[in-house]
Amino acid sequence: MNRLLGGTLRAEHLGKRVKLQGWVHRRRDLGGLTFLQIRDRSGVVQVVVRPEDHPEAAGVLDPVRLEWVVEIEGTVTARDPVAVNPDMETGEIEVVCDRAQVLGPAEPLPFLPDTPVDEVTEETRLKYRYLDLRRSDLQRNLILRDQITLEILNYFHAAGFVHIETPILTRSTPEGARDYLVPSRIRQGRFYALPQSPQLFKQILMVAGFERYVQIARCFRDEDLRADRQPEFTQVDVEMSFASEEDIFAVIEGLFARIFPIVGIAAEPPFPRMTYRQAMLRYGNDKPDLRLGLEISDLSEDLADSGFRVFQQTVAEGGVVRGFAVPLGASASRKQVDGWVEIARARGAAGVLTLRKRDGELRFQVKNVLGESELENLADGLGLESEGIAVLVAAPAAVAAAALGALRLHIGAEFDLVETDEHRFLWVTEFPLVERESEDDHWNSCNHPFTAPAPEDLHLLDTDPGAVRARAYDIILDGVELGGGSIRIHDSKLQQRIFNLLGLSPEEAKERFGFLLEALSFGAPPHGGIALGLDRIVMLMTGASSLRDVIAFPKTTSATSLMTSAPALVDAEQLAELGITLSPKAGEEAGSEEG
Ligand code: AMO
Repeated sequence: MNRLLGGTLRAEHLGKRVKLQGWVHRRRDLGGLTFLQIRDRSGVVQVVVRPEDHPEAAGVLDPVRLEWVVEIEGTVTARDPVAVNPDMETGEIEVVCDRAQVLGPAEPLPFLPDTPVDEVTEETRLKYRYLDLRRSDLQRNLILRDQITLEILNYFHAAGFVHIETPILTRSTPEGARDYLVPSRIRQGRFYALPQSPQLFKQILMVAGFERYVQIARCFRDEDLRADRQPEFTQVDVEMSFASEEDIFAVIEGLFARIFPIVGIAAEPPFPRMTYRQAMLRYGNDKPDLRLGLEISDLSEDLADSGFRVFQQTVAEGGVVRGFAVPLGASASRKQVDGWVEIARARGAAGVLTLRKRDGELRFQVKNVLGESELENLADGLGLESEGIAVLVAAPAAVAAAALGALRLHIGAEFDLVETDEHRFLWVTEFPLVERESEDDHWNSCNHPFTAPAPEDLHLLDTDPGAVRARAYDIILDGVELGGGSIRIHDSKLQQRIFNLLGLSPEEAKERFGFLLEALSFGAPPHGGIALGLDRIVMLMTGASSLRDVIAFPKTTSATSLMTSAPALVDAEQLAELGITLSPKAGEEAGSEEG
C-alpha cells in the first residue's frame, strides 16, 4: 500500500484503507482507547487504536511517546458527531488503526513543536534547530520562501535573464563590511575572501555580453548583526546592460507586483520616489517608513531672528532647527520626554525642546523666551494643530536629522502610530556618491566604488566631492531596506578617477581591481543593477520579526551556530598545513574554550 499524507484526509476518503507515516504529535489514553495525532508535512490527523479489536497494533503503540516516528495502517472512519473538531482540517474523520510499526523512537525532547516560544529559551531553540523547525509556523515560512524563490526565478527567466553562479572563493568584493577570509593551503599566506556580494562578477558578465543576469546569491559579511542582518544571507542579484534607472525600477516593480500579492500585500507600480535629501529632511532617515506620519519641518529660516537665543545662535552658526508634531502626544509624561532627550543626546544633539498644546493653550518648555505670536508661528510651522506635543532639535543638520529620525521611530512606536495593516513601498534616489567622517578623513563610497556619479555633477568631482550625487537607489518597504543598486561606471578612466578620490593609488587600484579596470577597457556596455535581500523580503511577507524565522539554520548575533558550534577550533595539524600560527592571545582564548 502506498503512503498517504494524513493531513490531506477528508470526509470524501471515508472507508478508504490508508498507510500513514509521521510523528506522534499528541497522545491521549482514554478508557482503554489510545488516540494519537499523527503529523506529517501536510498537517495532522487523528488515529484511534482499539486494543480489543487490534491487540497487536495496540501493543506496538504502547511504548510510543510524543515525537516518535511511526507507521500506521488503518481505515478512514467518520468521527462521532460529538468528537468532530471544526478547528482541525481533518476534524471530521479519524483513522482506525489495525497495524502499526515504530520507525524511529525519540528520547524525551527539550521542547515540543507546540511548546509556546516564550517557554523555551532562544539558545535552546537554536541548539535544537531541527526540533524548532518542526513548528508549523517555521515550516510555513520556509515553504513560502521556496514559493517566492521559484516565482522570482520564473519572473526573471521569462524576462530573458540568465541565472549564473559566481564564485564563493574569491577576492574581496567591497560592500563596506569586513570580509570573511579563507586561507589557501596550496599558496600559503594567501587568502580567499568570501563575497560580500557578486558585484564585480555581475559587472564582468555584462562585459561578457549576457545583458541580463540574475542570481540567487549567498553573500557573506562580517559586520554587527541584528534582527535584520545575518553574517550570511541571500540576495536576488540583478544586472542589466543598456539599462537606465527607469528600466531597473520597472523590472523590480513588476517583480514585487507578482510576489507580494501572494500574501495579500498590494504592490502597485509605479512606486513613489523620494530623493535622499528629501528623505533626510522630512524623515531624518534614508529608509523612511511612510506608514508613520510625524513629518519633520525645518523652521531654521523662521527662527533665525527668534527671541530664543538657542534658536538664533544655532542658525547663525549654520545649524538648523527642526521638529515634528505628535498628535495625541499632549499627555506625554516627564519620563517619556526624558527618554526622548536621551535618544537625541545619543545622536549628538544637546537635547530636545518640547512645545505642548493642551486645552487650546501653547506651552514652550523654556518659559518666558518666546512671545505669543512666535509660539503660534512655531506651532503652525510644526503642524501642531489640536492637542499634542511637538519636539524640536537645534543642531547641525546631520545631527538634527539623525536625532529626529530616531525620535520619530521611537515616538511612533511609543504612541502606536504605525498603521500595520498598510504597506508602503518607496524608492529613495540620488544618494551622495561619497562621504567622510571629518575634514581630515579620506572619502568613502556611500554605496560601493563602482557606482556612477550623476553626469550633471561630474564637474564637482574634484572641487566638492561631497556634493556629487550618485546614480544609486534603494527600494524600501515600511522602513526596511529591501534592496539597493545603481547605474555603474562603465568607463575605465572614470573608474580610475573614483578610485583616486577614495585614496587608492593607481598601483593599489591595479592590484585590487586591475581585472575590472581591464575588463572595462575592452568594450563595456553601459549597465546597472540592484540586489534585493531575499531574507528580508520573506521576513516582511511572512510578518516575521527576525531573519532567523525565515532562514533554516541562522546564526546568533555573535555569528555562531548553536547547533553545529561553528566557528570551531581546528587541529594544530590543520593550522600547520595552512601555515597559520595563532597569536598568543587567540591561542589562549582557543585553549580556554577547549578546557
Ligand atoms: P547592498 O549592500 O545594499 O547592495 O545589499 C543589497 C541588499 O542585501 C540585503 N542585505 C542583507 N540582508 C541580510 N543580512 C545582511 N547582513 C545584509 N546585508 C545586506 C539588504 C540590502 O538592501 N552589490 C550591491 C547591490 C548592487 O549595487 O547591485 C549590494 O550588495 O536587503
